[in-house]
Amino acid sequence: MSARTATALTRGPVLLIGADGQLGTDLRKSLAARGIAPVLSSRHGSLPDGGSAHACDLSTPGALAALVREVTPSVVLNAAAYTAVDRAESEPDLARRINATAVGELGEAAKAIGAVVVHYSTDYVFAGDGTRPYREDDTPGPVSVYGRTKLEGERALAASDADAVTFRLAWVYAAHSANFLRTMLRVGTERDLLRVVADQIGAPTPAHWIAEGSLRALEAGARGLYHLAPQGQTSWHGYAEAIFAGAVERGLLARAPRVEAIASSEYPTPAARPAWSVLDSGKLERDTGVRMADWRMGLAEVLDQLGAN
Ligand SMILES: NC(=O)c1ccc[n+]([C@@H]2O[C@H](COP(=O)([O-])OP(=O)(O)OC[C@H]3O[C@@H](n4cnc5c(N)ncnc54)[C@H](OP(=O)(O)O)[C@@H]3O)[C@@H](O)[C@H]2O)c1
Repeated sequence: MSARTATALTRGPVLLIGADGQLGTDLRKSLAARGIAPVLSSRHGSLPDGGSAHACDLSTPGALAALVREVTPSVVLNAAAYTAVDRAESEPDLARRINATAVGELGEAAKAIGAVVVHYSTDYVFAGDGTRPYREDDTPGPVSVYGRTKLEGERALAASDADAVTFRLAWVYAAHSANFLRTMLRVGTERDLLRVVADQIGAPTPAHWIAEGSLRALEAGARGLYHLAPQGQTSWHGYAEAIFAGAVERGLLARAPRVEAIASSEYPTPAARPAWSVLDSGKLERDTGVRMADWRMGLAEVLDQLGAN
């Protein structure tokens, strides 16, 4: 099984959907490090670095399947998703179209040509009332439109019977793109006091760890469903404090703002979020040898990247 899978990335073209997104950007780097130049796709056919890609809007029925038939890849990496968690509450049909229906269509198109699908899902498929890190066979219970549509996407891919692996992720960030770390570094220069929720617990995950971890797992033969998240856990408040401490240490910020811990109820949002988002990545390590390090190490790496820039 491993030998068969090891060749999947090199057997034919690799198609990367969502090449301009946070994870898509780091998947491009991990593929380049392997000498693989993927066929790129983005919603409008443009890329932030000025390059071009195949234009493929996942909200258009059949568009992704047509692209898969055109490229005939050996592997499709789907890093695209409707990720606007709050806006999804008022756009459920669009979120479902992109996060679920398009994923099912991708699975069917991939199955027809024998391509392997690598897909990404979320901790938001869970209700967040867990008391230990969630395992893959724990019962989902999404509390938001985003979480529900992502769960439907997982199931649509499984129902297509495509050769596929889905990685559930949580709290993704990078030195680029829009994410919590970059927001904190921006507002940290503007304000003396920030109020950050302390009753949602998870593990911040660098996108480059996900890119590398998921490709290594694929190369090791991973199929089915895996949790891919760092060791350890913190709250958004603890994460913010660690960001500021690390940023000051590296000279990225002159001084840290005060970070006040608040309850989620003090920061109402359109979408409910799980209070407990900790994922158990033990199955990933047992099956593939891919071991996730502690989230603090990932934060140090990303802050180092920002410092080097
Ligand atoms: N970010 C997190 O904290 C987090 C946590 C758990 C799981 N995940 C999952 O991880 C994966 C990667 O997320 P990310 O953080 O890289 O998100 P991201 O930066 O928001 O990237 C999402 C990508 O999807 C594309 N996209 C959205 N709607 C599209 C459409 N209609 N047609 C084509 N492309 C479309 C976006 O393109 P545009 O630039 O054109 O919008 C963007 O390239 C997703 O499956 C997400 O659900 C993320």
